[in-house]
Amino acid sequence: MNYIAYKENILYCEDIPLSELAEEYGTPLYVYSKNQILEKYRSFISGLGNVKYQVCYALKANANHHILQLLATEGAGADVVSAGELYLALKAGFSPDKIVFAGVGKREDEIEFALKQNIFSFNVESVSELHTISRVALRMGKKARISLRINPDIDAQSHPYITTGLQSSKFGIEASKAIEVYTYAATLSSLELVGIHTHIGSQITKVEPFIETANYIVGLIGKLREAGINLTHIDFGGGFGVQYINAVLHEALPQEETSNTIVPAPAEFLAAVLPILQTTGCSIWIEPGRSIIADAGVLITRVISTKENALKKFVIIDSGMNDLLRPSLYQAYHQIVPLSINTYETEKVDVVGPICESTDFFARDRLLAKSNTGDYLAVLTTGAYGFVLSSNYNGRPRPAEILVNGDRVRVIRPRQMMGELE
Ligand SMILES: Cc1ncc(COP(=O)(O)O)c(C=O)c1O
Repeated sequence: MNYIAYKENILYCEDIPLSELAEEYGTPLYVYSKNQILEKYRSFISGLGNVKYQVCYALKANANHHILQLLATEGAGADVVSAGELYLALKAGFSPDKIVFAGVGKREDEIEFALKQNIFSFNVESVSELHTISRVALRMGKKARISLRINPDIDAQSHPYITTGLQSSKFGIEASKAIEVYTYAATLSSLELVGIHTHIGSQITKVEPFIETANYIVGLIGKLREAGINLTHIDFGGGFGVQYINAVLHEALPQEETSNTIVPAPAEFLAAVLPILQTTGCSIWIEPGRSIIADAGVLITRVISTKENALKKFVIIDSGMNDLLRPSLYQAYHQIVPLSINTYETEKVDVVGPICESTDFFARDRLLAKSNTGDYLAVLTTGAYGFVLSSNYNGRPRPAEILVNGDRVRVIRPRQMMGELE
């Protein structure tokens, strides 16, 4: 179900018209649907069926404390990439034995902190990191559980900036060295080798790269078993794509003409890989971030003014790349729609923010419903990698965040004040 949708001509989040929230809390404003988050999380759980599993929510997608609490209460684990994220996860109530720690550059103090908390496993990205974790564990008189993050050299067919499983990327241990590194890791007495980790990229919209990865993992686990190394745990990573294009439909709104078909649902991604992975008898963990939170979120903004030159029309809004970096960072597409549809007229425009950078745009040469000064717009599918990537650039306070549950509204992060900019 889509919890952010039009009823007649008014865009709602659950039972609340978004324009009411814009009027009350101001713009720019992030709004999230609680039930959309829960539905997405639960669709992963039901897709995993009877497998011995754990869903570890990737905090990097959205680390709002209240959202983390919600997922921790549902029984989610956490995928963290820094001591800071580990701190946030613990504070929100995630159980340490459901936490995995990834990232190419873990500092000694971060490893020490994670070992003290007795997290489930470190996802190790290099031989030098093996040495560091081993040294810190030895010093602390502890045994560190580890999985090796193997880079299978598989093309995720996503944007190059969010592709992580190719040999040219900085992530993981190269596939050709996997057996050698496992064999070496097995000799280090302060490490307990539990599993294998892969994460080939983000916003992957086809099942094939995942199937290829699953087959690779099964092959490697088989070879390791022959060599006497018996892994019991697969961490398959995240990266499951979401529907950004034509996310919300209304007869008055232009639709993108695209060959890009409907993105598979979580259960479809899982159905494609579980039969392969299950043959190993290992527990199967996954680390979805975007696919749990992206379509539960919307960024509300207001048109400050419009202007035209000989080439283009610009719609200048009160939100910019400091609030939502994805279009500037990876030319990411977000659908932009009015909170209230008053016209069938459309126009081709650039939607730009107030920041002094040419990369401060949310859409270029995009056919949109005609908008005027003062109109409210919704930038859709912005729950993931939205607020977390925000900054105070150009002296702009960060937006507020609101969680909607039915007809109830909760401010889960107040708007930053000018005084907090110092
Ligand atoms: C190791 C790891 N796991 C999980 C994720 C979450 O990915 P996504 O938000 O695409 O599900 C990421 C994102 O980059 C990651 O690096």
